[in-house]
Amino acid sequence: MADSPRHPFLHGLSKHRGAPPTVVVIFGASGDLTARKLIPAIYNLGHDNLLPADFFLVGFGRKAIPDEEFRALAAESIKEFSRRDLEPGIWERIASHTSYVAGGYDEPAAFVRLATHIASIERTLGRDVQRLFYISTPPSVFAPILRNLGSSGLADQHLGQPQHSKVVIEKPFGQDLDSARALNATIRSVFAEHQVYRIDHYLGKETVQDLLVQRFANAIFEPLWNRNFIDSVQITVAEEVGVGSRGGYYEQSGCLRDMIQNHTMQLVALTAMEPPVSLDAEAIRDEKVKLLRAIQPLTIGPQGDVARAQYAAGMVAGKSVLGYAEEEGIAPQSGTETYAAMRLSINNWRWQGVPFYLRSGKRMARRVSEIAINFRRPPGTLFAEGGRFDLAANTLSFQIQPDEGLSLILNTKIPGLETRTQPVKMSFRYATTFGSNTPEAYERLVLDAMVGDGTLFIRGDEAETSWKLCTPVLDYWRSVGREGMDAYAAGSWGPPSADALLAKHQHVWRQP
Ligand code: BG6
Repeated sequence: MADSPRHPFLHGLSKHRGAPPTVVVIFGASGDLTARKLIPAIYNLGHDNLLPADFFLVGFGRKAIPDEEFRALAAESIKEFSRRDLEPGIWERIASHTSYVAGGYDEPAAFVRLATHIASIERTLGRDVQRLFYISTPPSVFAPILRNLGSSGLADQHLGQPQHSKVVIEKPFGQDLDSARALNATIRSVFAEHQVYRIDHYLGKETVQDLLVQRFANAIFEPLWNRNFIDSVQITVAEEVGVGSRGGYYEQSGCLRDMIQNHTMQLVALTAMEPPVSLDAEAIRDEKVKLLRAIQPLTIGPQGDVARAQYAAGMVAGKSVLGYAEEEGIAPQSGTETYAAMRLSINNWRWQGVPFYLRSGKRMARRVSEIAINFRRPPGTLFAEGGRFDLAANTLSFQIQPDEGLSLILNTKIPGLETRTQPVKMSFRYATTFGSNTPEAYERLVLDAMVGDGTLFIRGDEAETSWKLCTPVLDYWRSVGREGMDAYAAGSWGPPSADALLAKHQHVWRQP
């Protein structure tokens, strides 16, 4: 039998070492994401010898910043946010290829200057470089940047060669279905789909990638992965943090847009999709879209499939914290949800009748993201009598963060002369088995974009399909104002309406 082709997604970094000479241009170079995530990710790639030998970093922003100052700011952000300490030797290699171009995002001349700057890098090097444009700005300037990349000719450079230009687009990818479609149309007027990398940083998390490995590299799960054996699925993405200083953004967004439409829906797709025909980006993304399309439109309204709530004052990690409406930048009568929960029905052969419950919220009891697969209970004929048998449904849970790992709840006999049972947890923890220095999601994603592997990025039709499901909910909420907005104490596991959503179907939320 011929060897199956090796793919970097599963088989290490062989392809990654082949990233062509690249210039990464970051739009929004003095922004928060650049400092917290992008610069540290690039530094750590350098640390692991995964940057191409000819690697250049160009910051682009409205503010005039001399090259020297941009390099100093970058070094500061590595010191503050990188998972590894800054080692001068490694940083200096990157810093000596780091520069800054100032200009307005809607200023065509600034993009001509940028093109000239990149051309001069190529001249000095004596060869072509790939341009990777990373758009990490507020969404209001996504379209002007894209248009100027088109009109300046930067988008088309080296088309047809491995060094063709690529664009990475940060979230939020639209505010609803119409705006996502409009953004996709603008992107497609400038770039071909294979040049586009829409970020969802959850896909860069180790445990999210491991989900596919667990499902398809082990023979024991697939036969059980369906309505015959699975009773329900619960996906929780809970945060301890509140809205912090991001009130301005969050008031326009809310939990459904910020977490459910993108991160949580991606977890649903990876958990429930059919096995792809190969591990190619397109094969995997085809299956994800198919799955998202099979999700039934949500029933919306007072007895519907969706709950929303805002956090009230409470205690988180032993400290008392404000309610959402008292936070900086939030309207006292704000109608923005900080928590959302929903019940999804997937209408296909595999999942028909198995509810998928999703919830996400800020200021919840604990930071935890997990996918819990609840199996059907065994028939109660043998171990049913009195209080002697404490039986739980088998639950397989993927702990995405923190304390990454996998656990399975099994019913076990308590040692002793009597037959008594107790559920026990069998666990595997990444930190124990592999050590704890796992790469950050952004390292993987920046590297994948450089080598042209789109597996861990969202395709345009995926984004639209997910918006198609969520937009009617947003429209309904807008039409009813604050009506039906529930509350939960900061530091709790969410509002009563979310419990009621499950109780209707004889389920309860798991305590992660
Ligand atoms: C971002 C949201 O996409 O994800 C934030 O905008 C949220 O509101 C963050 O806090 C959570 O990411 P992580 O990696 O900390 O789970």
